[in-house]
Parts: sequence; structure tokens; C-alpha cells
Amino acid sequence: MSPLFLALLVAFTAAAGALDGGARGHGQRVKSQTFLSPPIFLRPGSVSNKWYMDADFPRGHVALKSFNGELVDARGAPVPLHETYLHHWLVGPYYPAARGGAGFRMVTNSGVCGATLGQYFGVGAETRRTATWVPDPYGVEAGAGPPPEGYGEERWALNVHAIDTRGAADRAGCTECRCDLYNVTVDEEGYAGGTLCCSDQARCRVEEGFVDGEPRVLFLRYTVMWVDWSDAAVVPVRIYILDVADDALLQGKSKPDCKVEYMVEECSSESRARNECVDVKVATEVMPRGGDVVYAVGHQHAGGIGTSLHGQDGRLLCWSTPTYGTGHEAGNEAGYVVGMSACYPEPGAVRVRDGEALTMVSNYTGERRRTGVMGHFYLLVADEREEPPRRQRQQPAPATKQQWRPSLCFSFPVPWCVPGWLSIGPPAMEDDDA
Ligand SMILES: *[C@@H]1O[C@H](CO)[C@@H](O)[C@H](O)[C@H]1NC(C)=O
Ligand SMILES: *[C@@H]1O[C@H](CO)[C@@H](O)[C@H](O)[C@H]1NC(C)=O
Repeated sequence: MSPLFLALLVAFTAAAGALDGGARGHGQRVKSQTFLSPPIFLRPGSVSNKWYMDADFPRGHVALKSFNGELVDARGAPVPLHETYLHHWLVGPYYPAARGGAGFRMVTNSGVCGATLGQYFGVGAETRRTATWVPDPYGVEAGAGPPPEGYGEERWALNVHAIDTRGAADRAGCTECRCDLYNVTVDEEGYAGGTLCCSDQARCRVEEGFVDGEPRVLFLRYTVMWVDWSDAAVVPVRIYILDVADDALLQGKSKPDCKVEYMVEECSSESRARNECVDVKVATEVMPRGGDVVYAVGHQHAGGIGTSLHGQDGRLLCWSTPTYGTGHEAGNEAGYVVGMSACYPEPGAVRVRDGEALTMVSNYTGERRRTGVMGHFYLLVADEREEPPRRQRQQPAPATKQQWRPSLCFSFPVPWCVPGWLSIGPPAMEDDDA
């Protein structure tokens, strides 16, 4: 039995174990179905970044409980990231125009980036080892109610962005979408890499001999788990995706400006000497509506060393760290982020207020320059429930410091502060280390 299969089996058993606790208690039967995306054709170095409309998806009024995906080949064998890098996949509902009319209306999540990060589910390379299970009694509602006037029944759109790095001249550079490797120039100051340079049909530089390499066909194989909707048994959650590349508040703008990607510069020799070769990126965004955080997970690319999310008073809401592979096989590829740890706070233990300014921190090593990196936080938030939380259990505190000493605060356009370690003065960490 392959280690990956074993890992999947373990993951599945873990999920099934979770069901026993809650959903079954409510008499809800968890259903699961596995689908394949349309075929994705890739040659060495080539990129596919397509949207697939009307993707296979469970129909009816349901509470979605998990969504897991991975790239597989024509025989159904998992494809490792060093052969095909899964930049991301995204999925979300939409309404097609009624009676054969053109156009559609995408349904986006609850915020904060609007359509820019409007998906319901979506991750990247870390997909195989990132928990997506929505804890009981919560669920992501889908298929509710009739479509808006002039539109047909709800459908689902799937986007897969994959980069074939077989024979790549610079594998890491191709996955980081470095423009020079794709022979693309972008008319934007300082733009050295990112999704603009690895768009659909783009081609990354490959070694001699791979230029006309074998094309192959891949699929995103995805498994959706759900329960039939029940007002009595399921509590709906709202989806929020935060972006550390949103600098709108810093610029004094109230409307978010989610740039989705950013660049990490190589650290200076001084910081290297001090052993502080870390790129710390911080952003604050405002939650339109608060509630109980029941699930949270970060998203980072290779080079990422951790991401955290804090409330307005600095309290830790979630700390999510990447897992790196150590081998060669799918799900354990050395040098790649193969998983992100997720937070499952006890209901009621992690609460955010309506309009609260949340601050996100995303750290990368500054060992070398990296383009197109990301720092996102995906949150599931439920309306506060009447009953008090069963137990106040915070996130297990990581060994590192999470002390918050706001030293630089603003009142415009909303009240918010930057963490102490970013401003002048001794870093907040010093005494913690003692
Ligand atoms: C990029 O441009 C160079 C020089 O114009 C060319 O030799 C090379 O084949 C191009 N590479 C790709 C991947 O198109
Ligand atoms: C990020 O790095 C800063 C500075 O080293 C540190 O204080 C903070 O705890 C780190 N946060 C995460 C989430 O790794």
C-alpha cells in the first residue's frame, strides 16, 4: 500500500470519526461523492489555468462538510507536485442566465475581498494534507432557495491552475511564475513574477530535449462531502477570505484592495547575520460581520514559515503553519508545502465582532527573493448561538511569542493597530525568549 493511500485512508478515517460525534447524533447521514474535472492537457513547461462551468457537484439543498481535491493522471494515479505543480483550484456557485441566455452571475463568499477571492473552497499545493472538514453542527449552505429572477438553477464553476514542471530549467522559478522564465513582460513597475506571467497557455523554460516533451492528460479529482440541509440540525457558516497583500487600510482607503500575491525580497546580510532572515508581512482588514470562528486555515506558498490572525486587541484567533514534504511521492514532495495546519476552536471560544479589524501576519524566509507568494486566511464564521461555550479552549499556543504590543495605532478609516515588532523599539519577542 502506498504511503499516500495510507495517508488518505487515515485522513478519511479521521473525518469519519468526526462525524460520529455530531452529525449522526442529529440523525444526519454524511454523503460523499468523488468527481473528475474535465481533462487538462499539459506539455513540459506548459500552464493550464481554466474555468470549467457546470462542474459536477452535489445538487439540492445541502450543507457542505468538506471539499478535497488533487491532480491525478489518466490512470487515476496521484501526480506529484514536482511533475505538475498545482498552483490552485477554486470552486464556487453561480446562476446561469435562464433559457439559454448568455452570461451568468457568480455567487461570492461573504468577503472581504469581494470577487477577487470570492470562492467557496480553494487551496493550492497543500491540498492533500489540509483538513477542510467543517465541524458539526456547522455546514456551508448550498442550493437554497430559487435562483434570482432571470437565472436558472444554481451550478458550480471550477478553476484549476496547474503548471507542468517536467524538465523545467528552474522548477522553483516556474512555480513562482517568474516572468523571465516565461518570456513575459508585464507593464507594471517592479512586477517580476506572479500569475500574470503564468496564465493559461503560457510556457515556462524547459531544458534542452524537453521542448517537445510528451503531452499528458490530467484531471482534478475532488471529493465533496455533505449532509442534506436541515434547519434543525445544521448551523450555517459564512465564508471569509482575508489577504495579507491588501494594503488598503495602510493607504487610508476603506475599500479592500486584495492584490492576492506579493513578493518576498532577499534579506540583508545584517539580518542574516542576526539570524532574522524573515520576511514579515502584515495587513489589517475589517470583518463586515462577526460571530464564532469555527474553522480557520492559512494559505502560503513554498518559503512560508507561518501565518497568524489576530483580533483588534491582539488576541490570537488562529495560527496556521505549513508542512513541508520530505520525500518524492505525491503528498510528500520535498521542498513543497504539502499541508497547512487548520484551527478548530471550540464553538464560542474564538469570537469576532461586527466590523472588527483583524490583523494577519504572514512570514516567509528571506533566504532568497520569491515572486507570487501568498498569505491568505480562510475563515468559517457562524452567528453566535444562545448557549454559552462548553469550554473555553483557546488554540494551542505555539511555542513562539504571540504577544501583541500595539505601538502604532490609527483611527482612520477604522481603528486599527500594527503589531509592536514592526515598529521602532525592541522587538516584542526579546523577553519571551529569555
Ligand atoms: C524565450 O525567448 C528566448 C529569446 O527570445 C527564446 O530563445 C526562448 O526559446 C524563449 N523561451 C520560451 C519558453 O518561449
Ligand atoms: C513572524 O515573525 C515575527 C518576527 O520574527 C514573529 O514575531 C512572529 O511570531 C512570526 N509569526 C508567525 C505566524 O510565524
